[in-house]
Amino acid sequence: MCGIVGCVGEKPCESFLVNSLKNLEYRGYDSAGIAVFEGDKIKTVKAKGSIGNGLVPKLEAEGSLKAVAGIGHTRWATHGEPSDINAHPQGNARVSVVHNGIIENYRKIKKFLMGKGYTFESQTDTESVAKLLDYSYNGNPVETIASAITQLEGAYSLGIIFREHKNKVYAVRKECPLIIGIGKGEMYLASDMTAILEYTKEYYTPEAGEIAEVTKDGVTFYDIHGNVVEKEIQIAEWDVTAAQKGGYEHFMLKEIHEQPAALKNTVTPRISDGVPSFEECGLTDEMLRNYKNIYIVGCGSAMHAGMVGKYVIEDIARIPVTVDIASEFKYRKPLITKDDLLVIISQSGETADTLSALKLGKEIGADTLAAVNVSGSSIDREAKMSVKTLAGPEISVCSTKAYMVQCAFMYMFAFRLAYARGRIDKAKCAEYTEKLLQIPELIQECINRKEQYQRVASKLVNASSLLYIGRGLDYALSMEGSLKLKEISYIHSESYAGGELKHGTISLVDEEMPVIAVATQTSLYSKTAGNVEQVKSRGAKTIVICRDSADVNPNIADYIIRLPETDDLLMPLVTAVPLQLLAYYTALDRQCSIDKPRNLAKSVTVE
Ligand code: AGP
Repeated sequence: MCGIVGCVGEKPCESFLVNSLKNLEYRGYDSAGIAVFEGDKIKTVKAKGSIGNGLVPKLEAEGSLKAVAGIGHTRWATHGEPSDINAHPQGNARVSVVHNGIIENYRKIKKFLMGKGYTFESQTDTESVAKLLDYSYNGNPVETIASAITQLEGAYSLGIIFREHKNKVYAVRKECPLIIGIGKGEMYLASDMTAILEYTKEYYTPEAGEIAEVTKDGVTFYDIHGNVVEKEIQIAEWDVTAAQKGGYEHFMLKEIHEQPAALKNTVTPRISDGVPSFEECGLTDEMLRNYKNIYIVGCGSAMHAGMVGKYVIEDIARIPVTVDIASEFKYRKPLITKDDLLVIISQSGETADTLSALKLGKEIGADTLAAVNVSGSSIDREAKMSVKTLAGPEISVCSTKAYMVQCAFMYMFAFRLAYARGRIDKAKCAEYTEKLLQIPELIQECINRKEQYQRVASKLVNASSLLYIGRGLDYALSMEGSLKLKEISYIHSESYAGGELKHGTISLVDEEMPVIAVATQTSLYSKTAGNVEQVKSRGAKTIVICRDSADVNPNIADYIIRLPETDDLLMPLVTAVPLQLLAYYTALDRQCSIDKPRNLAKSVTVE
């Protein structure tokens, strides 16, 4: 949700703080700020707006800062609207704090501190943390932090500086991501590796409650009791170019083009003897045979990937699958038991709703299997078993390659589950797997057909509302198509089961309501074509997304987007591409902010 950074070195840290914050703007960009040591004081510069529009002009007005240590923050507002006052860092003359996460009991803390004479300027929860640190301060920062965090409820990663401990930066986390980077003659802290990849690939990941004391010479980790904790250095798998645009106009377009490789990288290493294997994470055939139900949780596109998984698993493995929006799962008293498997899907591995659902599943005693794209993320470390979707960094807020590899994971899981439970034999499992390995070529072919998406996008650019319809797996894809369009073009759209239209929603359809029909499932094509005819007769502009071989009645389809073909079962991996590019080109025509859509952030680390 927010991005935090920090640096301690021998040369001025201002440019590192600004640059590393820019690398984290995908986590939120409502406001930004830095706090550094200046003489025997803490100097804070912060501003509403993106780094380039707010903070940088303010820093230029200040003249370059000489400080060699400091902290920084880029914000996605949770408490208090985006403003200078609510921007981080938050603090006072003695302590300054940058915070990612949400403190659920901050009002209680604020009331207590006001009773002790503290005043508050902002509407943020973070200000309560800063002033609690000030109140708890006993001259020893580690003891001070240990005392304060025992009173915090919620999720946080904190960067902290104390005026009386010049050129030292402190950090601590719980449920939110945090890493300590190892530079040459300088040390860093950041929400994730994207911030500091251009500076180093070596880093530490503190566990919850471990307090990091960072100096220019290194870092010492303490537990809550003040005991030193030894930690292993980790090496980032990504390189700098992987986290940059590579010549594409937008990260989203780059990441769409990376999908063939992302799928290959995610699937190929997990194929053993021609079929998928999850032995890497400890998921055995015996376990797969014993599960009574499968529950899948995720948010947004991750949940949509779960929907694809549901249809595929129930089709070939014949075991009940329940897909839940993660934020609903936790509060609906789900019937999951210790005999079931909970599959958690998350690109960032930090989505608070999904992490909460995972924790509930573990409390109930269900086995938990995570599919995450960020190694070392909270969900990656919290789940009993974890599979990495090797898509590489996904920077654009709009998920594309991550969704693709989440679906690919679901296919591999479904194939192995069906095989382990004797629903398909090894030959059939290998046949499905071989077809999965051919998908990257079909994705590339879809990408090459970009003119057809650009042509249709130009017809949608002035729409105010659209319907996406489909049946079966096409319905699951219509959900993803609708979300893609909404989140980057700001055009309202709704996904609807094609057969359900006539039970109410068709009343919305007129000449102003384009309808996009996802019609790739051979077995359901005629039914979906019937739905297209129904909306066409009510004046809708119709777009049909179908196979190359589909026999589309030209009287019902104003526009046709044709796709290369594979089994009905695997078509979602092909269909995702036109849906992504249709949204991309529509948003481009509307001159929307493609990689940083308004109101959104890449990783939603609050519930
Ligand atoms: C997808 O385009 C969205 N940006 C969003 O729905 C995203 O899929 C969702 O927030 C889940 O994020 P996660 O995969 O990191 O958990």
